[in-house]
Amino acid sequence: MSEVVTYNREGSIGVITVNYPPVNALSHAVRSGLVAALEQGQKDADAKVLLLVCEGRTFIAGADIREFGKPMQDPGLPSVVDQYENSDKPIIAAIHGTALGGGLETALGCHYRVALSSAKVGLPEVKLGLLPGAGGTQRLPRLTGAQKALEMITTGEFVGAKDALALSIVDAVEDGSDIKAAGLAYAQKVADEGKPVRRVRDLTDKLQADKGSDVFEQFRAGLQKKARGLFSPFKCVDAVEAAFSLPFEDGVKRERELFMECMESPQRAGLVHSFFAEREVSKVKGLSKDTPVRDIRTVGVIGAGTMGGGIAMNFANAGIPVTIAEVKQEALDKGLAVIRRNYENTAKKGRITQAQVEERMSLISGTLTYDDFSDVDLVIEAVFESRDLKRKIFGQLDDACKPGAILASNTSTLSIDDIAAATKRPQDVIGLHFFSPANVMKLLEIVRGEKTSDEVKATAMALAKKIRKVGVMVGNCYGFVGNRMLHKRGAEAMALVNEGASPQQVDKVLTDLGFPMGQFAMSDLAGIDIGYSIRQERRKAGEDVPASWMDKLAEQGRLGQKTQAGVYKYEEGNRKPIPDPEVDRVIAEFREEQGIKSRDITDQEILERCMYVMVNEGAKILEEGIADRSLDIDITWIYGYGFPAYRGGPMFWADQIGLDIILGTVEQFYDDLGGEQWKPAALLQKLVSEGRKFSDL
Ligand code: 3HC
Ligand code: NAI
Repeated sequence: MSEVVTYNREGSIGVITVNYPPVNALSHAVRSGLVAALEQGQKDADAKVLLLVCEGRTFIAGADIREFGKPMQDPGLPSVVDQYENSDKPIIAAIHGTALGGGLETALGCHYRVALSSAKVGLPEVKLGLLPGAGGTQRLPRLTGAQKALEMITTGEFVGAKDALALSIVDAVEDGSDIKAAGLAYAQKVADEGKPVRRVRDLTDKLQADKGSDVFEQFRAGLQKKARGLFSPFKCVDAVEAAFSLPFEDGVKRERELFMECMESPQRAGLVHSFFAEREVSKVKGLSKDTPVRDIRTVGVIGAGTMGGGIAMNFANAGIPVTIAEVKQEALDKGLAVIRRNYENTAKKGRITQAQVEERMSLISGTLTYDDFSDVDLVIEAVFESRDLKRKIFGQLDDACKPGAILASNTSTLSIDDIAAATKRPQDVIGLHFFSPANVMKLLEIVRGEKTSDEVKATAMALAKKIRKVGVMVGNCYGFVGNRMLHKRGAEAMALVNEGASPQQVDKVLTDLGFPMGQFAMSDLAGIDIGYSIRQERRKAGEDVPASWMDKLAEQGRLGQKTQAGVYKYEEGNRKPIPDPEVDRVIAEFREEQGIKSRDITDQEILERCMYVMVNEGAKILEEGIADRSLDIDITWIYGYGFPAYRGGPMFWADQIGLDIILGTVEQFYDDLGGEQWKPAALLQKLVSEGRKFSDL
């Protein structure tokens, strides 16, 4: 008998218990243990009914993702589920926490399901580039009908116990926290009432009801937009459709074929990498579970502009009171009104209630003086990107805030050490770099200064989790990880247009790769004036910043979406970029002024120049220790810039292409185009010479 699955009897109930922390994933040991325990239960003449229950925080949360990509060892999960379903003794699954993926499929193989009211169920395989591969696509629609099964399987969204009851996924819901007691009580009832085994595979009424409907075609059409570029959601629809067109055994075979197609797809590898990378980023070098963390009960934000307002909303959403400071009442009122409008819009979409709008607004207050920050635990500064202004503010905060308060800046590019030096407490200063819109984007780039204490770093990581962000710890340099790489890509995109590409050609290559928008559509969203004023500042400071056709657009007042014209034009109330012949004219004029003879540029060159320049910079970032691991860069780009998670992030993507290929091309560009950005990173050269990858570091 395996240690991770045990069998014992309580009265007339045979209890099969899974105990495989942290989430009772279906590893080989668990699968074999389930089979062995079932055999014991079958043989136990005194057991009338069997109960499957889990120890720890959750019911089985799915297949063991760490086994993916390795040869599957028997027994496979489909066979385990079949053996449970074939049992002549009724089996009850008792669900607490989350019954996910293979976990829910195992429960669907049982004959009855009881859940705690706090439990959730779901088939999230699609989020890993897969589909439910142990009968889930065949059994779930037999309980819920086609529409709901398609929704659950193609989105991977979880369903709460009460909804699961309404959908017939579970048969009973119990309040309280003792899942074993709830399971035993339900099992006893089944035994007392002599209820028969009830196999989901034999249920047919829901199948009949949806047979011949156009729900599948409709679903596929909807997915064309929602699941652009993705492979597995479409395979999920094919698999569910098989439940309606084929007998159960053939449907299961079809599901397996489609599952294997997904398993072998590069998207599965990218999504599984993203899953683990997202969890790994929370483990920061030098910090441990024992590192002390400060309590953040109240927060101050400076600046009620684009970023300050969004940042404040994160805290109100998490129930933490926040005070926003502005220079003028007018700016404060405007900022607070924008926050209210955002909440009202969310309420209109039904995502929060009007009561929640008021509750959250009541947690946000405004002030015109830092005196109100005397008791806050954390201040986040989000004023204009000016070194002098930020240093002045940090000096004032040093006086206004209590000892131990953390002083953070949302700067996108400036040095955290330089800002910290304006205070007497550099150990308490850190960068908290949110991404726009700050209440939506999941990334929080946490910038450690030279002197930032471990306690402050650990507090920032814990805070990210509390406000439901993915915190990535990075070092201090111009633009940190995200913007440093973005600026290299931006410069290359500009150069490509100078040389002959059109902005829409460049953007299309990036959106075809899976980015939600291209470089120039993104400039229009952020505002062309931002880049323009950065370039003007640098020119004023005497730096040699080359002229650009985008300067001309900014000087014409084409500032992007906010003026309905930038690199693209926009129709009133619509964010869809429309190519504009006027911009082509400005670009042509610029080329003529600069004496540039335009040439045809291939999509492949655009891809290589925009992406390899990022990879080369990423390698330099690793070399310098600005990012500790390549997965930190991957997660920064997935959650901060919409890099397609199914490609695993830029460094994982580079590993898949082959670092030797990338290095060869980078060397070629360095010879042909020159420029520091194309100087091959020493780390890239080293990895290629050793035949290793970024993910091996
Ligand atoms: N396999 C292996 N490890 C897993 C795992 C899984 N299915 N699910 C979670 N883990 C690990 C995590 O990597 C993490 O490990 P770490 O502590 O070493 O970093 C640990 O369990 C805890 O996970 P979280 O930090 O995510 O804990 P939370 O409490 O926040 O969330 C959860 C728990 C909701 C279960 C979440 O982990 C989750 O969504 N897991 C994935 C569930 C899933 O996708 N299941 C489907 C798998 S595919 C499948 O079943 C195929 C089948 O159809 C054949
Ligand atoms: P913004 O111009 O929208 O807002 C700045 C606000 O700060 C204004 O409302 C202004 O009145 C206020 N302010 C100026 N001086 C002040 C002072 N002394 N005290 C209190 N308030 C003061 O600017 P935005 O876009 O919100 O940027 C703020 C910071 O966030 C900058 O450092 C920027 O680099 C950074 N950032 C911006 C992102 C973006 O996409 N806009 C993304 C990530 C970071």
